[in-house]
Amino acid sequence: MAMKTKKCKRIAVMTGGGDCPGLNAVIRAVTKTAITRYKLQVYGIEDGYLGLIENRIRRLTYGDVSNILTVGGTILGSCNSANPSRYPVTTGKRTRFKDVTDVCVDNLKANGIDALICIGGDGTMASAATFAKKGVTVMGVPKTIDNDLPITDVTFGFDTAVTTATEAIDKVHTTAGSHHRVMVVEVMGRYAGWIALHAGVASGSDIILIPEIPYYIEKVRHAVLERSKKGKGYSIIVVAEGAKPKGGKMAIAKIMKNSPDPIRLGGIANLIASQLTDGNDLECRAVILGHVQRGGTPTPRDRALATMFGHTAIELLMKGTKNQLVVLKDNKLTSVPLSRIAGKIKTVPKNHPLVRAAKAVGTSFGI
Ligand code: F6P
Repeated sequence: MAMKTKKCKRIAVMTGGGDCPGLNAVIRAVTKTAITRYKLQVYGIEDGYLGLIENRIRRLTYGDVSNILTVGGTILGSCNSANPSRYPVTTGKRTRFKDVTDVCVDNLKANGIDALICIGGDGTMASAATFAKKGVTVMGVPKTIDNDLPITDVTFGFDTAVTTATEAIDKVHTTAGSHHRVMVVEVMGRYAGWIALHAGVASGSDIILIPEIPYYIEKVRHAVLERSKKGKGYSIIVVAEGAKPKGGKMAIAKIMKNSPDPIRLGGIANLIASQLTDGNDLECRAVILGHVQRGGTPTPRDRALATMFGHTAIELLMKGTKNQLVVLKDNKLTSVPLSRIAGKIKTVPKNHPLVRAAKAVGTSFGI
């Protein structure tokens, strides 16, 4: 399907993957910019790529996107188990995987959509890149609380997740101090430790464990006992869900068979809490923050970033740019080809300035 952005009259917007604070702010910026500045017709695709496969597309008016800037989640719905290149079709007891990308392209064509704005993470962008190869005009907007998309300095949703995690750890501090306990707080982040590192430093946590720096449990125990010796009767450990011991494996909570990214991490906080309790009189508790980090109203910073991303996606599209991901690079709004980020992740460099600063103020990384 050849789509000429010069003649762009009707666009569709969709949100893919896990929800994330700021999605509605992007939908609002995209829709308002498209309608007021360019008189475009805007359509919303329901439930991410699932809605595109099932042709669930509805018109979005200016009124539909009013008053959603501060609202968490996505008014369009999302789905992180529908990969158009590998879509599960079940007949009886048998599930087969089909490539339904052509179905998506046909549905866009049938609805007269000239360009598609995909708001999502690496999985969403990988599919967006596939559509681009099939002639669809696509613009991507990077979202994820994990902040693990390469090239962009930051993704929207990250600041809110870090703020939520930091506030929660601050509260956990109270119980840790009052009851002289070791509190092990597990945060999200998939295979990257950005949330743990930022929330850990911001909350003044004593030990931070991230996937990029495999820990030794003995060193973690040592750090806790050293604090006790110094009269600090409690410790706070922040552990990324993807953290792993040196030479060991990540803790897997479950496998979602039909999901494009089937591994769901989780359980490392409980493991560490029980290992630290073994053989001494430390009282340890695990706190798993989970989806609390993805929920709620976005921070002002995420609202602003999401608004800039959404606006930039439309401005670039109307200038004829296509098949690119909007990014904030060196603090400047720009875009890069979708193919440059599809399937790649950005992890924490071992010598990141925040790791160095944390070490300098006495934080242990369990090494
Ligand atoms: O990518 C966002 C994220 O919240 C990760 O931090 C986490 O590992 C994963 O999604 C959880 O996915 P689900 O909501 O499917 O359990």
